[in-house]
Amino acid sequence: MLDIKITKTTAPKARPADESKLGFGKVFTDHMFLMNYTEGQGWHDARIVPYENFSLSPASMVFHYGQEMFEGLKAYRGKDGKTRLFRPIMNARRTNATNERLCIPELPEEDFVQAVSAVVKVDEDWIPTAPGTSLYIRPFIIATDDFLGVAPSKTYLFCIILSPSGAYYASGLAPVGIWIEDEYVRAVRGGIGLAKTGGNYAASLAAQVKAHDGGYSQVLWLDGVERKYIEEVGAMNIFFKIDGKIVTPMLNGSILPGITRDSVIHLCKSWGMTVEERKVSVDELIEAQKNGKLEEVFGSGTAAVISPVGKLRYMDDVMTIGDGGIGPVSQKLYDTVTGIQNGTAEDPFGWALVLD
Ligand code: PLP
Ligand code: COI
Repeated sequence: MLDIKITKTTAPKARPADESKLGFGKVFTDHMFLMNYTEGQGWHDARIVPYENFSLSPASMVFHYGQEMFEGLKAYRGKDGKTRLFRPIMNARRTNATNERLCIPELPEEDFVQAVSAVVKVDEDWIPTAPGTSLYIRPFIIATDDFLGVAPSKTYLFCIILSPSGAYYASGLAPVGIWIEDEYVRAVRGGIGLAKTGGNYAASLAAQVKAHDGGYSQVLWLDGVERKYIEEVGAMNIFFKIDGKIVTPMLNGSILPGITRDSVIHLCKSWGMTVEERKVSVDELIEAQKNGKLEEVFGSGTAAVISPVGKLRYMDDVMTIGDGGIGPVSQKLYDTVTGIQNGTAEDPFGWALVLD
């Protein structure tokens, strides 16, 4: 159990005037959580303080070799006035999976959940309530030793910031166009693709710019070796409905084990659908599309929620999925996931954590 010292701001900021225009990740609340790590001492000085800039040495290791991790989850304010988190223990577990890969010290799972809950509670009245909005929570850890040698840092800073946000894609729930990238790759097995760390996103930017220039919202990555098998999208995992079955790439070490992905798999199975986690080749998709069997495509992610894909481009092929609109499984998943998050749907797996 952390002993968290709370210092409240004396200059609260104005709340966003129009919640329907929030966008994603642009506005930040009044407070943040901080905790330090020092080798030999462990994690210490848990505190909630007014949101402000950091003061760091230019030699801080994070700036040079990218030893850092981040997480993403959301807090929701239900019609019942209660604040809910969605499966925060999964983010705590994934934090430690990332930390292990990057030689960042372990953070006790219960401390992660306590820290997230405490800072959300302090800024609870920042949680937006307009449809499709929530409070995006960004926990992250950075290496802070002043040292230019390549080695794991001996000191770290754990921080949690909060951002009232709307839809991740400007189009909202309207289907997005996705670019299947055939030149660049994001990750390889044995690399850091399974970790939630900045380097993976830096590696993704050049292809993302290409995709945007081509009029597409995000990149769908192929495997780093054969460039043949589907991996995941820039900020979400990917699902296909092929001939009545739900199919998604299996976790192979180079894609992020998404918490929404896991939730989608549980929900679909509980609805009696067949779910296959396996290799999916781009050729299989093209073939299924030709035979009229590629019925739905959607992405899953905390920021993206359930995001229907209306169009997939691969080299010279442009596939329009279904009628280009929102498929019935995508819609049902969106309604169920957001219903559990907002407390308006039954929560059969006990995923919502209500903060008191
Ligand atoms: N894949 C990538 C690369 C992501 O950035 C995200 C977003 O967090 C996801 C998948 C989806 O993960 P989750 O559902 O845990 O948000
Ligand atoms: C999330 O969905 O939480 C993410 O981290 C996606 C992010 C890269 C915007």
